[in-house]
Amino acid sequence: MLGAKSAIAQAIIAKLDGYDFILAARGSEALAPFAADLRLRRECQVDLIEFDALDFAALAQLPQKAHDECGEFDLVVVAFGYLGDQATAERDAVEMATVLNANFTGAAIALSHLANYLEARGKPGGIIGISSVAGDRGRQKNYVYGAAKGGLALFLQGLRNRLAATEVHVLTVKPGFVDTPMTQDMDDLPFLASPEKVAGDIVRTYRKKKDIIYTPFFWRWIMFIIRLIPERLFKKMNL
Ligand SMILES: NC(=O)c1ccc[n+]([C@@H]2O[C@H](COP(=O)([O-])OP(=O)(O)OC[C@H]3O[C@@H](n4cnc5c(N)ncnc54)[C@H](OP(=O)(O)O)[C@@H]3O)[C@@H](O)[C@H]2O)c1
Repeated sequence: MLGAKSAIAQAIIAKLDGYDFILAARGSEALAPFAADLRLRRECQVDLIEFDALDFAALAQLPQKAHDECGEFDLVVVAFGYLGDQATAERDAVEMATVLNANFTGAAIALSHLANYLEARGKPGGIIGISSVAGDRGRQKNYVYGAAKGGLALFLQGLRNRLAATEVHVLTVKPGFVDTPMTQDMDDLPFLASPEKVAGDIVRTYRKKKDIIYTPFFWRWIMFIIRLIPERLFKKMNL
């Protein structure tokens, strides 16, 4: 679980019965109480490893490090993300790079190495990558984050295509607004879903080996309509 401190990640863990877990996060020692509770309640193995999506050089060693320290693994969940601040990113290259690198470049590099590991095992496995509905159309209020998440969705699509002949399944997740620390400072978000609802949708869909899920489901139709709005009209909308 990459980004194991995330609210959605922890809700997914709660739904993944029968698994052992490798919790990868920045400052992973803070997850010790969560891990202890998980071990106690689920009688499973839970390991913590350090992971920073912005440390590109370390990402190549990630699969082997996880394997050596924690054992063989068969499912990778990419749950980290950085919303950042759109207005700041428009003026500040560091903020722009952090949003793009955390959500896209770091995710893509980590996914590549982990996909190679899963493919080399030659056994059934899976990847769940959390993108966002924000990646379906560029909007003035969050196009930097949206561009990174849209890039991630395209990357996951290509990875799924590449791994189609193997036993490694790739699920792309596109949540709408979810009530987590990421959105806690945002007011009046429409159709705000709970992490538990989104996690339930994700795990159910992964088990059915579907390719893409919008969660909650109606975001598929909302984004279908939003994508259909002609650019000429879209430019006049304050979205
Ligand atoms: N909440 C929403 O409305 C929403 C909607 C669509 C998609 N998503 C996506 O859902 C996923 C889960 O987010 P969430 O809603 O559960 O938010 P969250 O609770 O705020 O979790 C985001 C996590 O990403 C981690 N992270 C950020 N940058 C990182 C980096 N460079 N390396 C490693 N970890 C990093 C954070 O770690 P630290 O604790 O160390 O900062 C944090 O634990 C993300 O991919 C997010 O983009 C969320």
